[in-house]
Amino acid sequence: MLKRVVMMAAALLAAGTAGAQEAGGPQLLQAGNDITNIDSLQRGARNFMNLCSGCHSLQYLRYNRMAADLKISEADLKANLMFTSDKVFDTINSAMPADAESWFGKQPPDLSLIARSKGTDYVYSFLHGFYADKTRPWGVNNLYLPNASMPHVLLDRQGMQKPVYKSESEGGGATMELVGVEPMAPGALKPEEYDQFVRDIVNFLDYAGEPIKAKRESMGVFVTLFLLVFFVFAYLLKKEYWKDVH
Ligand code: HEC
Repeated sequence: MLKRVVMMAAALLAAGTAGAQEAGGPQLLQAGNDITNIDSLQRGARNFMNLCSGCHSLQYLRYNRMAADLKISEADLKANLMFTSDKVFDTINSAMPADAESWFGKQPPDLSLIARSKGTDYVYSFLHGFYADKTRPWGVNNLYLPNASMPHVLLDRQGMQKPVYKSESEGGGATMELVGVEPMAPGALKPEEYDQFVRDIVNFLDYAGEPIKAKRESMGVFVTLFLLVFFVFAYLLKKEYWKDVH
C-alpha cells in the first residue's frame, strides 16, 4: 500500500515538473530578493518611480502607504518620488495616456501583481533578457518574452546584449534556435551592479504585490512563539487538574 502511494506521488511529481519544463522556455535566473531589506526596497522604489512609472502604474498601492512601509519621509516622498500625482493618498498611476497602445503596440500593463502572477524570478530574468534585434520597432527583443513591445529602458545601465543561437538540422533544412544572450556592448554598470539594481526593482515589485507580506511573516513568528508558551502553561494546568483524579 505504502509503496503504491509513494509510486503515485513520484509519478505525479514527475508529471508536474515535465509540464513546467514544457511551458518553460529558457531557464529563469534567480532573483534572490528579500522583502525585509528596507534599503533595497527604498532603492527599488526610487528606481521604479524614476524609470518605470512613466509607463507602468501600481494601481493598488498608495503613495502614503508605500512611504510608511518603506520608512520614507513625506518630504522625501513629495520631492523625489511623486511624478504622477501630488496627493499622497493617490494610488501610483502611470503618466501614460489611454492610447499608449498605438505607441507600443500594447498598453504597458499595471505591475501591481506581476511579481505574484509571473514570479519574481521571471521579472528579474525579463529585465536581464533584452537583446539587439533590428527587426523589432525598438531595436530590441526579449529572451523571456518573445517580441516584447517594451523598449530596453535600462540600456545605458546594462549595455546591449546579442542573441546566442544553436543551429539544429532536422531532415533537409537547418533551423536556428535562440538559446541565450551574451554581452555585446558594456553599460554604465558592472554586471554585479546591474544585478543588484534589477534585484532592488524586483524586490519593490514583490513588496507592491502584497504590502502586508513582510508584516505577516513576522506576525507568524510571533504567533508561533505565543502558541509554544501557551502550550507549556496549558500542559501545567492540565497536570494540576488531573493530579487528584489518578
Ligand atoms: C516606454 C514605456 C515603458 C517603460 C519606461 C517601461 N516599460 Fe515595461 N512594458 C512596456 C510595454 C509596452 C510592455 C508590454 C510588453 C508586451 O507585452 O509586449 C511592458 C511590459 C513590462 C512587463 C511585463 C512583461 C510580461 O511578461 O508581461 C514588466 C515586468 C515590465 N514591463 C517591467 C518594467 C520595469 C521594471 C520598468 C522600469 C525599469 C519598465 N517596465 C519600464 C513599456 C515600458
